[in-house]
Amino acid sequence: MAEEIINGFSSLSREEKAKLVTLSLARPEKLMKLFDFSLYQAEDMQKQFLDLSENTIASYHLPYSVAPNVMVDGKVYHVPMVTEESSVVAAAAYSAKFWAQRGGFIVENISTVKLGHVYFLWNENPMDLTSNWPFLRFVLLEKVKPLTKSMEERGGGIVSLELENLTYSVPNLFRINAEFDTVDSMGANFINTCLEEIAVELKRYYSAGEDKGKKEALHVVMSILSNYVDGCTVTVSAQCRIAELNGVEKGLTGAELAQKIKAGFDIARVDVYRATTHNKGIMNGVDAVLLATGNDFRAAEAGAHAFAARTGRYASLSTCTVEENVFKISLTMPLAVGTVGGITNLHPLAKASLELLGRPSASQLMAIVASVGLASNFAAVKNLVTTGIQRGHMKMHLSNILASLGVDNAARERAMAYFKERTVSYSAVKEFLDQK
Ligand code: MEV
Repeated sequence: MAEEIINGFSSLSREEKAKLVTLSLARPEKLMKLFDFSLYQAEDMQKQFLDLSENTIASYHLPYSVAPNVMVDGKVYHVPMVTEESSVVAAAAYSAKFWAQRGGFIVENISTVKLGHVYFLWNENPMDLTSNWPFLRFVLLEKVKPLTKSMEERGGGIVSLELENLTYSVPNLFRINAEFDTVDSMGANFINTCLEEIAVELKRYYSAGEDKGKKEALHVVMSILSNYVDGCTVTVSAQCRIAELNGVEKGLTGAELAQKIKAGFDIARVDVYRATTHNKGIMNGVDAVLLATGNDFRAAEAGAHAFAARTGRYASLSTCTVEENVFKISLTMPLAVGTVGGITNLHPLAKASLELLGRPSASQLMAIVASVGLASNFAAVKNLVTTGIQRGHMKMHLSNILASLGVDNAARERAMAYFKERTVSYSAVKEFLDQK
């Protein structure tokens, strides 16, 4: 590791940056070659990538896969998924087909209101502020009109603007709650721009406007959207008659399988250790589709886990019921996604993904993403309560080990056959290959 602080790094070219950070390594040329190798051949495409972030020296590849047969409200989608984790796509694909043969996923509910806040301290009598709020709201909304105009033309804009007194939690703290409809865009930039403009106008109002005498009373702390989008949620479900589960799992009747899966889901309602892993199984599918479509999976993760804890106790996002001979699974989660704007217009494969999905609206994408989340969740829990997950994982694990050892096709086939019924580990595979 180098010991000197680097100045002016961001203004260097890609090659110069790469050279500089590899300089002190034993074989810098090896890494440099790898970085170069990772680049797109088409220069314009590579430039787009370099420009997406800062200080970019290479492109980082992940597998781009498809889970076919995801049926949502009767329409079948072949859903692109980007993930490095073995078995996630296979599990989602298995589950998607399983449910497509039983009516598919149904959207029960969808809401699309996004939220943002301006936090400020008010050091005078709260009544002075709250009694003036109806007028102030009008002034603030007027001020942001130029910013919301084109969003309004697309059918969205600011849905509401309210003042909330939070002085019970922090002395003098108030919050302006803004609700937004961003139509098919994720809208993060739009929301944050509006909020910052509202904050600027708020300060102007109390320093130069009608109430300028109150300048010292106001201290704006920050303006930012919230990733806790509890007004932007989707509920999807899938169901079948118990009899339709007969024969699905060797040695189990449909009723037995239904009860086993329900027990798996029920544990995740009450036990935080299981709930966290259960929800991770949902996010395996959700994040993979979000990544493939150029959406912000960190925002979705943050929102999903906050939502899972909305009652004060962290619980699973999905449920399973067995009632009157009907087996049903359902998932409700917050999801702020976009199908226009941002990276969805810039990343070539994100664009391709949306094309594959038939250019969905943001609401349709929410439903597709949640369906893949529920599909992944169902496959994971079904495996856990029957064969365990390792059997499925091991095939991919073996494949990854063989790839890392660089074996030829003949050796790969021999190893695949040998380990069909045996426990896979790196050392066991190595030993097997060394014997031959
Ligand atoms: C592994 O990535 C995900 C699972 O652990 C999910 C679950 O336990 O439900 C299999």
